[in-house]
Amino acid sequence: MIEAMQELTSRLWFPGARWHIGDLAWGLRQHTGREHEWPTKVWRSGGEVVAWGWAELPGHLNLQAVDEQWAGEVLDWFASVTEPEGVVVSSAEPHLIRAVEARGFVQEDGPFFLHLVRDLEALPDPETPCHPVTDVAGRVRAHREAFYPSRVTEESYRGVQGTWPYRRELDVVAEKDGETAAYCLAWLDEARKAALIEPVGTVPDHRGRGLARDVCLAALHTARDLGAEIATVSPRGDDAWPIPARLYRSLGFTQVARTVHYRVGRG
Ligand SMILES: CC(C)(COP(=O)(O)OP(=O)(O)OC[C@H]1O[C@@H](n2cnc3c(N)ncnc32)[C@H](O)[C@@H]1OP(=O)(O)O)[C@@H](O)C(=O)NCCC(=O)NCCS
Repeated sequence: MIEAMQELTSRLWFPGARWHIGDLAWGLRQHTGREHEWPTKVWRSGGEVVAWGWAELPGHLNLQAVDEQWAGEVLDWFASVTEPEGVVVSSAEPHLIRAVEARGFVQEDGPFFLHLVRDLEALPDPETPCHPVTDVAGRVRAHREAFYPSRVTEESYRGVQGTWPYRRELDVVAEKDGETAAYCLAWLDEARKAALIEPVGTVPDHRGRGLARDVCLAALHTARDLGAEIATVSPRGDDAWPIPARLYRSLGFTQVARTVHYRVGRG
C-alpha cells in the first residue's frame, strides 16, 4: 500500500506539495501497531495510481489526488469509514481545496505547518563532526528525548529503516560524550531531485549550540551528493511552536506554502 501511495506522491511532488515520499515513510512507519487506527485506500485509473486516502481515526483525513474529482472520491470513502472531523491540505493544492470545500468543510484557525524550501547550490559546511547513524538504540533514545513523549521505539525505528527510500547515509547524527546529541533524517526522492528533512531533534541538554544546524547541513550535503537539487521541510508555522521554523529559516529555507486546516461544517 505505502509503495502505491509513494508512487503518486513522487509523481505529483512540487515545492509546496503537502506530501513527499519521505513523509509517508516516516508518517506510516514511525509507530507500530497503529494500522487499525489508520484505514488507507488507493485509487487507480488506466494502470496509474490517481489518489490515496489515509484516515487517522477517529476523524482526520490525509489525502492526495490528481484532480478535484478523484479527491471527491477520497472524501466520500472517508465519510464511509468514519465520522469526518478534519482534513488538512496545502495552500498550493487548489484542486484539493475545492474538493474539500465542495463537501462542506470550513477553514479553521489554529496550529498549522509551513512548507519551506531551499535550493542546495550554496551550502555552508557543518562545524561539528557528523556521521551516519550506527548506534540505533542511542538514536532512538535521542528522538524520544527530543520529542518527549514519543511513541517511537527501536522496533518502529527499524521499520523506518526498512522502508523505501530510507538511506543510512541520510540519517545523520552528532555525538557529545559518546552519546547521540542531535540527529537529522533526510529522505531523497531521486525522480524529483528533492530531499525532505523529517525529523530533526537535539536532546534538551545540548540545545542552543548549533547541533541541529550542523546535522541538517551534513544531511543536506549528502543529499546533494546523491543528486538532490532542492530540499523541503515542514515545521509548525503558528506562534505556539516557533523554534523549528527559526532553525530552518536560519539555514536559508523560505516559505512557498502552508497547510490549510478544515473542519466539518456544522449546520
Ligand atoms: C528545534 C531543535 C531541533 C533545535 O535544536 P538546537 O540544536 O537547539 O538548534 P541550534 O542550536 O542548531 O540552532 C540553530 C538555529 O535555530 C534557531 N533556534 C534554535 N533554538 C532556538 C531558541 N531556543 N530560540 C530561538 N531560536 C532558536 C536559531 O535561529 C538558531 O540559530 P542561531 O543560534 O544562529 O540564532 C530542538 O529545539 C528540538 O529538538 N526541538 C524538539 C523537536 C522539534 O521540534 N524538532 C523540529 C521539528 S521536525
